[in-house]
Amino acid sequence: MGSRSRIIGCGSYLPEKILTNDELAIAVDTSDEWITARTGIKRRHIAGEGEFTSDLAHQASIRALENAGIKATDLDLIIVGTTTPDETFPATAVTLQGRLGLQGGAAFDVQAVCSGFIYGLSIVDSMLRSGQVETALVVGAETMSRILDWEDRATCVLFGDGAGAVVIKAENGVAETTETPGILSTHIHSDGQLRDLLYCDGGPSTTGNAGVVKMMGKEVYKHAVTNLTDVVVEALAANSLQPEDIDWLVPHQANRRIIDSTIKKLGLAEDKVVMTIADHANTSAASIPLALDAALSDGRIQSGDLILMEAMGGGLTWGAAIVRW
Ligand code: UT7
Repeated sequence: MGSRSRIIGCGSYLPEKILTNDELAIAVDTSDEWITARTGIKRRHIAGEGEFTSDLAHQASIRALENAGIKATDLDLIIVGTTTPDETFPATAVTLQGRLGLQGGAAFDVQAVCSGFIYGLSIVDSMLRSGQVETALVVGAETMSRILDWEDRATCVLFGDGAGAVVIKAENGVAETTETPGILSTHIHSDGQLRDLLYCDGGPSTTGNAGVVKMMGKEVYKHAVTNLTDVVVEALAANSLQPEDIDWLVPHQANRRIIDSTIKKLGLAEDKVVMTIADHANTSAASIPLALDAALSDGRIQSGDLILMEAMGGGLTWGAAIVRW
């Protein structure tokens, strides 16, 4: 008998304003045809003036807590994966903790860019299973629109704003088999030699402002397909499972072509993939919990399903989490 971290609730939030490819093409030298063909993106949500990452995180968290059927005061840990914090400090997780009316427990941010949600799951899983905490909230929340160069068509068309959250609870005295609900394993990686492929050119210790996203798209693309395929294989092997055991792949939504190439390499059927990129674009750390919530809300993900989540982002960082629902 052992313990397992079980996801007991999920929620998400998207800002009201939608920016379509056609609207974007009025201000930027691009087209709906190019964006759709190269990425699969059709539209993205953009945070309103005065709407911050913590506001998006707060809304998603309220929905996740409601879905879990617990009160915010039941939480003893909050982790927010974000690369667009409200301020340099305090952590957006601490701001969220205050907004949820909490004074106890711990709250901190994880900076792993698009892999932030997977990194958050990995930390929480270790802390829950070691008995340090009992009930945790993991949020991915971003206002990517605030760190984009809106004159750089190679990057500004790719991203969107949003947030997703999950409530995770420790279940003790359970059999540690691949059939037992909960997180089966997490796998995280980074390679700092590749930092220049995707970075933000500002920060408190360098320029003093937030900077904008800089990306060598083709290079990132190549690493994405290789690293994501490898980390999915690693996660399956760690649990003696096969690609055909996966009921739902919930991938980071950066580019439809990256997802298509990854599933082709894995031999996974297209109808086993949760795809939200057309409506959300790349929401960095928020993209996996947003996609997860979409597939839970419409009933695609059912109790007992095997879920594989994977992501890659700036750093480069990448990772996967495998979950029995
Ligand atoms: O979430 C973090 C991880 N990020 C990623 O995984 C992103 C990985 N990279 C990608 O998804 C792709 O590389 C992009 C979608 C960013 C770009 O697609 P691509 O097929 O690699 O295009 P490219 O950068 O090679 O550009 C092809 C052409 C260029 O024109 P020329 O040099 O062939 O004349 C670009 O100038 O497309 C042009 N271009 C555009 N045209 C219209 C670049 N951006 C645009 C645009 N609209 N928005």
